[in-house]
Amino acid sequence: MSFSGRVEHLIQELNEAKASTKEDVERFRIKFLGSKGVFKDLFSEFKQVSSDEKRQFGKQLNELKARAEGQFSSWSKEFSEGLVANEAHDLTRPGMTVAPGAHHPISIIKDEIIDIFHAIGFSVAEGPEIEDDWHNFSALNFPPEHPARDMQDTFFIKDPNGGQDYVLRTHTSSVQVRTMENEKPPIRIIAPGRVFRNEAVSARSHCIFHQIEGLYIDKGVTFADMKQTLEYFAKAFFGKSKIRLRPSYFPFTEPSAEMDVYWGLENELDHRITKGTGWLEVMGCGMVDPAVLASCGIDPEVYSGFAFGMGLERSAMQRFQIPDIRMIFENDVRFLSQFQSAI
Ligand code: PHE
Repeated sequence: MSFSGRVEHLIQELNEAKASTKEDVERFRIKFLGSKGVFKDLFSEFKQVSSDEKRQFGKQLNELKARAEGQFSSWSKEFSEGLVANEAHDLTRPGMTVAPGAHHPISIIKDEIIDIFHAIGFSVAEGPEIEDDWHNFSALNFPPEHPARDMQDTFFIKDPNGGQDYVLRTHTSSVQVRTMENEKPPIRIIAPGRVFRNEAVSARSHCIFHQIEGLYIDKGVTFADMKQTLEYFAKAFFGKSKIRLRPSYFPFTEPSAEMDVYWGLENELDHRITKGTGWLEVMGCGMVDPAVLASCGIDPEVYSGFAFGMGLERSAMQRFQIPDIRMIFENDVRFLSQFQSAI
């Protein structure tokens, strides 16, 4: 075949070349661009053609080679991205699904409790997780060296320069102190947040957990108001209308109580949850001690109030039948994706 005939043939072959797999692309490379390929042959033959033909075909051959190389590199790119040539632009292919996130079980419980208290006029207050001694203890009637401080095993943060020491807050009562210091009654707040206690981690307890505490201060607030509010909560959150208040002790409330809800003893789960008593312990509560009001700048002769506080993990574990508290903090996606979708 004449040199011009071979060039004609090459053009036709390039026009007809197709690739639908990675192997096709490799075959194309070997055939045209390989060390024994068509271009190699043509260029070595080119050295022997007449100078007329050199003038006629030189530029064209270079252009054809550049075209073959361009074709090869664009196919390589396409196939290395895992696309098949014919499907690359197929608009009928199903789209890529993006899995929506899910709400964390603690957030679900927290949001529900916030809504319940929102409906009766409580708003959310927040404060720092690293707290000073005053807001976590002293203002709440835990004087230095007082044995009540041992009720809550505390993580201390020492200032290496000998300045004031801090703690990781052991309860969100610290937020109540901050609110009383900064606002005038009437005060109606709930303080959700993360708290820390130096406890051994096991299936039932953790050194990090979440609380919601509540505070209501106004003129003439009584124990009866507290009981009514907690009854409303028990009904809204647990769907149970019977509660009881057992005497208890907290340094910052007087009198203090533990609130239990009557859960019932209808099935085996009820027995397990209530340890066979039918009653479920839900939260600590009490009338704010007048000394606490005074330390926070509120006149105890004029105002009174109540406070309550509960942990969220226990409710989440019970609601979602989570057997081990550590799962709540591990953030394993297989665990988290089981909960209410975020959209
Ligand atoms: N701060 C208490 C605790 O963490 C709970 C509580 C709050 C009790 C308010 C009474 C009143 O255990």
